[in-house]
Amino acid sequence: MREQKRQWWKESVAYQIYPRSFQDSNGDGIGDLRGITERLDYLQYLGIDLLWLSPVYDSPNDDNGYDIRDYHGILDEYGTMEDMDELLEEARKRGIRLVMDLVANHTSDEHAWFIESRSSKDSPKRDWYIWRPGNEGAEPTNWECAFGGSAWEYDENSGEYYLHCFSKKQPDLNWENEEVRQALYSMIHWWMDKGIAGFRVDAITYIKKNPAFPQLAAADGRRYAPVEQASLNQEGILDFLRELKQEALEPRGAITVAEAPGVPLEQIRDFVDETDGVFTMLFQFSHVDLDIKPGGKAEFTDWDMKKFKEALSLWQRESNRHGWMGLFLENHDHVRSVSKFGDDGQYRDLSAKMLAAYYFLMRGTPFIYQGQEIGMTNCPFDSIDEYRDISSLNLYREETAKGRPASEILDYLGKRSRDQGRTPMQWNADREAGFTSGTPWIKVNPNYTEINVENNMRDEHSVLQFYRKLIALRRQYSALVYGFYEELCEDSADIGMYRRIHEGETFIVVCNFTADRVEWAGLTETLAGGERVLSNYETEAQGSLRPYEAAVYRWAAAT
Ligand code: GLC
Ligand code: CA
Repeated sequence: MREQKRQWWKESVAYQIYPRSFQDSNGDGIGDLRGITERLDYLQYLGIDLLWLSPVYDSPNDDNGYDIRDYHGILDEYGTMEDMDELLEEARKRGIRLVMDLVANHTSDEHAWFIESRSSKDSPKRDWYIWRPGNEGAEPTNWECAFGGSAWEYDENSGEYYLHCFSKKQPDLNWENEEVRQALYSMIHWWMDKGIAGFRVDAITYIKKNPAFPQLAAADGRRYAPVEQASLNQEGILDFLRELKQEALEPRGAITVAEAPGVPLEQIRDFVDETDGVFTMLFQFSHVDLDIKPGGKAEFTDWDMKKFKEALSLWQRESNRHGWMGLFLENHDHVRSVSKFGDDGQYRDLSAKMLAAYYFLMRGTPFIYQGQEIGMTNCPFDSIDEYRDISSLNLYREETAKGRPASEILDYLGKRSRDQGRTPMQWNADREAGFTSGTPWIKVNPNYTEINVENNMRDEHSVLQFYRKLIALRRQYSALVYGFYEELCEDSADIGMYRRIHEGETFIVVCNFTADRVEWAGLTETLAGGERVLSNYETEAQGSLRPYEAAVYRWAAAT
């Protein structure tokens, strides 16, 4: 095996904050920068050293900040640039580095660049976005945007359409235009000058469009076909990405986590190889998207935990040789992991810890999403009025208009909506979970009286304390960072198990994915001689695994 370079960001533990839902400091019901600064001591207590902030830039908030109006400004609701500087400084004092979201595929339609671009066909910035004439009175192509509806929006003023892979208030930048790329690079330098460590790179696999702008084959009865087919990881994208690396990322030593849907395993080298890759880490999504049919039709498909572990193992094995993964179970686009992969009822506590042990000690840099560390669950949303996310609302409107029963869409949203990951952080049992003294912008999960940070801090056996132990363990043993990954018990749908090996030291992580006691003939033998260094049960199991049991065993290197 190739020797892996030691890097601080491989040894880090990261935490993602969705600023709108983390902590409100002024009672307007919206989380803000000062709120985050107030909670840095908590993050230090948890033990993380890298913070990814979802966008706080100035934005009309059509897609909660992923529609940027000004890359150099902070949204009023979140505070000021001084608040941002203070957050950076206070984080630095606590040994926490900051990663910002880099949204470079699109801007807001209220960004000065787009306002200029749309002003006339002769605008010097016309070509900064993707404009096309109509096709016999209809959209230029039949591409469907990721949030539903046509990916083209008609502009009265010039009689042309512009492309938006996401909402119509998120026009796509034209990466073919050199000035656009340079403008983005200088923005990156500007933020690096401020002292951030790097970026989580949003929707970056969308930046190259199929230059032929083809009509796509739509599924039967459908007018549109997913824009992804012409905009996701298209040939030629690497030229853009390599330039981005050369001109902006590498010279600044920026660390990057690429959100990379659409990247096949074979391309892990291009994206994140230690020397030849563009980014330092990669988020892949197959393990969280295994429950839906591809194509954005809001339909579930059959899945089980075997598929879950296969999805993760595939990338784990490959990353032994190339690249480095960003490990995650949750983020602001996904539901709560304990509700999806565990049991958020009777076994919430045990299964949240089990899932934590399973993903956290894999090969890569673990990311914890706010609230995951206390075992937050999906929220019972009672009606469509309680949803906030543009993609949830669009989906409900469009699918019910097509005649699908509302109850079916609500069921889908309950299990898939991005709003599930966006309910406010549950700090304590006070009103609105201590998130705000006002009215929260989105409903607080009613289970906050029980599931909250304060309770978790008090209870030495809580999910939070388990995460703290995991973090400490990973810091203590470099085998858990740099160790080779080897899957065990591959064929089992009930048991997730792997080995990490490094310089003679070995760890085994073993997890029961089910609510039943599980027997496995080889268990005792496989674990023989190992020291049990962490578990979600107090006593050691003999020959079988109890419901949602997870344990970590260690064999020291021979001296
Ligand atoms: C990414 C973000 C998501 C956003 C989209 C468009 O997928 O995670 O929240 O809506 O990009 O920027
Ligand atoms: Ca606020």
